[in-house]
Amino acid sequence: MSEGAAEETRMIETPEGTFTIRLISADLGYVYPGLVRYTIEVLYGTEPVYTYAINSYEAPPGSTLDAATVAGIAFTRLEHDVRSRPEIYTRKRIFTRPLPGGGVYDVVILQGSPRRFGNSARAASWCDDEATRAGFSSKVFYIHEMDIRPCIGCYVCYNQGYCPIEDDMPWIIRAIESASVIVVCTPVYTNTVPSGLKAVMDRCQWLHAREKILGVRVHARGLTIAVAGQQGRGPFACVTPVVDAFMRNLDVQPTGAVLIDDLDRIRDIRGTRGAEDEIRSALRALLESGAQE
Ligand SMILES: Cc1cc2nc3c(=O)[nH]c(=O)nc-3n(C[C@H](O)[C@H](O)[C@H](O)COP(=O)(O)O)c2cc1C
Repeated sequence: MSEGAAEETRMIETPEGTFTIRLISADLGYVYPGLVRYTIEVLYGTEPVYTYAINSYEAPPGSTLDAATVAGIAFTRLEHDVRSRPEIYTRKRIFTRPLPGGGVYDVVILQGSPRRFGNSARAASWCDDEATRAGFSSKVFYIHEMDIRPCIGCYVCYNQGYCPIEDDMPWIIRAIESASVIVVCTPVYTNTVPSGLKAVMDRCQWLHAREKILGVRVHARGLTIAVAGQQGRGPFACVTPVVDAFMRNLDVQPTGAVLIDDLDRIRDIRGTRGAEDEIRSALRALLESGAQE
C-alpha cells in the first residue's frame, strides 16, 4: 500500500465479492518541490489487484488536465469498470516487474566513447583488468553499443520506481545498484561528455526515483577518467562537474578524476607517459580503501 492519505474510498459490492477502490495522495515534496503522487488501488477483499499512479510532475505547465484531475477521472472510470465487469479484477493485475538483466558486479565501468578501441576504451580495459587482478568482479558497459534512448522527462519513474522506456537501461540500473565502485571513462566532446553517455546519466534519474520511492540505495564510490584532444586542464572544465553531478544525484561519492589531455597530438593514450599507471593506481586505491572500510 502506498504511503499518504486516502482521499477517497469506495466499497463496491458485486456478484464476485467486495472490492474497495482507494485514491491516495502522497506528498513527495521531500523529493521535489510540489511533487504529489496520486495512487489508485483496487482491492479484492483485502488483496491489492490493480494499481494506477500519476504524479504532478508528469503534466508540464500548460497541460489541459493536471494530475489531480486525471487521478479523479481514473478513479471514476475504475469504479465503473469494477462494477460492470468485476470478474476482470478478481486476479492480480499489478504490473510491477522485476528488472531484466542480472549481472552483479563490484566495479561498473561506463565507457562513453563510440570508439570501441579508442582511448576511453583503453582506460576502461585497464580499470577492468585492475579490478580483476585485485579479485573484484567487473563489467564494462560499452554504451554506444547498447540500445539506450534519451530520458523523455515523463517523471513516471517517481510513481512506482520504474522507467516506462523499454531498452537496455535496466542492465545498467541493476549493475549500478549493486556495485561498490562506478568508473566513468569518457572522452571530452564539445567540452562535455558524448551524447550517448549523457543519455545514460539522465536515464539514471530512474535510480534517484528508486531510492526515493522504493528505498533502493546505491552504495558506491565513483572515479572519473576523461581524455581530451586539446592540451591543458581547460577541456575538462565542464566534464568533471557533469560527471560529479551525475554521481552525487545517485548518492555515489566522487573520489577524484584522472584527466589525460593532448591526445589530438599524442593520439594514443598508451603514448602518454604515466597514464596507465595513474589510472590503475587510482582504481586500486579506491578498491583498497573500500576493502578497509
Ligand atoms: C565530436 C567530438 C568533439 C570533441 N570535442 C573536444 C573538445 O571539446 N575538447 C577537446 O579537448 N577534445 C575534443 N575532442 C577530441 C577527443 O576528446 C579526443 O580525440 C579523445 O582522445 C577521444 O577519445 P576516444 O579515443 O576515447 O574516443 C572531440 C572529439 C570529437 C569526435
